[in-house]
Amino acid sequence: SGAGVSEVTVRVPMNIALVKYWGKRDEQLILPLNDSISLTVDKLTAETTVRMIQGVGENTVEINGRRVELSSNKRYQTVFDEALRLQRKRKEDSNQNETECISHHFEVISKTNFPVAAGLASSAAGFAAIGRAIQKILNLNDTQANRLARIGSGSACRSMFGGLVHWKKGEKEDGSDCVAVRADSENWKDLYCIILVFDDERKKVGSSEGMRRTRETSTLLKHRIESVVPERIEQVKKAYESRNFQDLARVIMADSNQFHAVCLDSVPPIRYLNESSWRLIEVVEKFNQQEVKAAYTFDAGPNACVIVQKDDVPAFIKAALQDISIPSEDLKSVEEDLNVSFEGP
Ligand code: PMV
Repeated sequence: SGAGVSEVTVRVPMNIALVKYWGKRDEQLILPLNDSISLTVDKLTAETTVRMIQGVGENTVEINGRRVELSSNKRYQTVFDEALRLQRKRKEDSNQNETECISHHFEVISKTNFPVAAGLASSAAGFAAIGRAIQKILNLNDTQANRLARIGSGSACRSMFGGLVHWKKGEKEDGSDCVAVRADSENWKDLYCIILVFDDERKKVGSSEGMRRTRETSTLLKHRIESVVPERIEQVKKAYESRNFQDLARVIMADSNQFHAVCLDSVPPIRYLNESSWRLIEVVEKFNQQEVKAAYTFDAGPNACVIVQKDDVPAFIKAALQDISIPSEDLKSVEEDLNVSFEGP
């Protein structure tokens, strides 16, 4: 980096929630109503370069070669502002008496190797990468980097680590105990994630709008948050640690279903799954008849993520492509990926 320019490039993977985050208690700080837990999907990444440039200038963000309109994507500005606040704070803490206030601006260039905004948590990988890059530029600690990613996109804070990651909602109003932590002692290397893209259009109801609607109108959400999620988080950890695929798979599917149920329970109802999603659910049900060997999970869109063990990947793909009639024009792509060898930066 040249005079007055700090530049860092990082590659950060996306994550898929096994117990879903849905609902904010604070929209500014992005503090969730419930804990969530995810797997980091190794091969689906956002490679991101962040330049912090001295002097007044316009912040710019480019994703996959396209300029992002920052006036309609306020989250980026929030992250940049927070980064500058942290930088100022560090200078104050180290007693550097600054006589002049040096201004900075940011340039972000990000490339994902998977479709953006297809309900594939691409924003998670992107904001996690920005958080990591700014962490390196400003020499921040993990909690500060976590916060940067989170205020960009909540689920992004779970992409800061590999393996199984637990995002704790915390209790405090300032969000200081709202952090993602690694939740496994060792990667389950045998787990694969098969992504079936049925629709690569931008989602109809974005997650922020959807969460707000659910929080304001769903009665089922309260039950989910209070009586269901805490137990499921523990079940996931236990099943993962003991390598009990069947138990893990059952919780994953149940939680995906409940997440979509609270969406339907909102007013007006939100429907993310389409006909192909439902056919895929039937495929998995059939595949699991003798023994539970696959688990589906869907985020805020129709695309499926199917978690299987390595040995079952070929059989599952065959079942998905042959046994059922997902309309072929509906199936945009199938990707299989090892999800757990990422060890973090
Ligand atoms: O981080 P956001 O605002 O894109 O919300 C993500 C919400 C879900 O993907 C549906 C669930 C989750 O926990 O990732």
